[in-house]
Amino acid sequence: MSEESREERPVVELKIDKLVAGGKGLGRYQNKVYFVKYAAPSEIVRVEVIKEKRDYAEGRLLEVLIPSSARVEPLCPYFGVCGGCQLQHIAYEEQVRQKVEIFKEQLQRVGKIRELPPVEAVPSPQPYGYRVRAQFHVEAGRLGFVEDETLRELKGRGEIVDIDTCPILHPRINELIPHLKRVSAEYGSLREVHVTYSPNRDEALIKLISEEPLSEGDLRRIKEELLPPFVVGVGDYKRVLRELVRRNFYGRDYTFISAKGFTYRVSAESFVQNNYLLWDRFIELVVPGERRGYCLDTFCGIGFFTIPFSEKAFFVEGSDMNNFAIADANYNARLNDRPNVAFLRATPSEHMKRHLDKEVDTVIFDPPRSGLDKRDLKVLRELLPDRIVYVSCNPSTLARDLGQILRWGVYRYKKAVVIDLFPQTAHIESVNYLEKIPAEGGL
Ligand SMILES: C[S@@+](CC[C@H](N)C(=O)[O-])C[C@H]1O[C@@H](n2cnc3c(N)ncnc32)[C@H](O)[C@@H]1O
Repeated sequence: MSEESREERPVVELKIDKLVAGGKGLGRYQNKVYFVKYAAPSEIVRVEVIKEKRDYAEGRLLEVLIPSSARVEPLCPYFGVCGGCQLQHIAYEEQVRQKVEIFKEQLQRVGKIRELPPVEAVPSPQPYGYRVRAQFHVEAGRLGFVEDETLRELKGRGEIVDIDTCPILHPRINELIPHLKRVSAEYGSLREVHVTYSPNRDEALIKLISEEPLSEGDLRRIKEELLPPFVVGVGDYKRVLRELVRRNFYGRDYTFISAKGFTYRVSAESFVQNNYLLWDRFIELVVPGERRGYCLDTFCGIGFFTIPFSEKAFFVEGSDMNNFAIADANYNARLNDRPNVAFLRATPSEHMKRHLDKEVDTVIFDPPRSGLDKRDLKVLRELLPDRIVYVSCNPSTLARDLGQILRWGVYRYKKAVVIDLFPQTAHIESVNYLEKIPAEGGL
């Protein structure tokens, strides 16, 4: 965008009423809704109008005229340029309060859920240094994070934000950054670097996603000469659409994590919950206080919830589509001496279908951001377990799915907990408890 056309953009002053999904501030000016990134509730701001649609506009923050009492100095020098964090300018307690409000608003607006349950909040014990997984991007030998989306749109192209450190990452992942930069500079076809760190074992696994295959010799050299010894394994992957396919691996392709007294093997391909400071608390929220019957844990990954849940259940069967995760989960059942669990590779609908002839006590869902699909909901409606525990990382798909489930008239939405796995970012994780409404005339 040239300076000339920039001057033509209107500038307006408005009050930010609240935050909305994505962490943007919402304000109104002449009956139009404006979305403004990096603004805080109750602030009076001056914004440049960068997008104007019939029913809403987007403003870029130029100046905070009257700041919110919750405004704080962001810790990170890349805040506002890097696309990773959206809320560093807001005091942590206020971030959590706002996330609860956004969560409720999504349930009501997207899910059309009129009667909301009590919603509790569980903050992160520390608002920085919590992330044990990182995904770096590499472009022309430079390693960093993806740029803020608005900046990318304004420029018509995106750039890598060349960071030296990221305050939400575990300090040991930050220690890796200079080493990973060197690897990126030397191996020109590298496109992404994914890191999983175990704070319990002080071990890291690294996936290198590159256009050209890296040989075993390359991987050996990278691990032995360019990376510190706490990196126990390095793999070469190619991206096929959204999937990563392993071409080669050097060193150990798994590590172990510990949570709530359980030990879990995690392969390089398996999912691990991001905020290690909340692992124990997260398990406590999903595992019930009372004894349960036959339960299903769909989207189970390494068995993070399945294994502790089995201490309270007659039997728990976990399912996931990732073969590596299922192999880890089976290993973890033996490692933790859990005789009453089994795992299978299946989608939730395939999994639930196998149990239509049973009385199922609880079904746990922990889907990716896209939520449940139509088949999952169709089979759930046939299965009708006594309880549903829906763990969600996306309030909008959660609201869509719960709205539909509640309209069956079979379940009561008992409680929700917003557990802040992602401080400083706009991501909202929640645990939602549904139970069957007792049949009329029942005790
Ligand atoms: C948010 S993770 C949750 C994993 C696990 N509950 C945990 O706490 O570690 C989502 C999981 O869903 C799995 N997954 C993604 N799409 C799936 C699908 N269509 N059917 C079954 N599993 C799927 C992924 O492999 C991943 O393990």
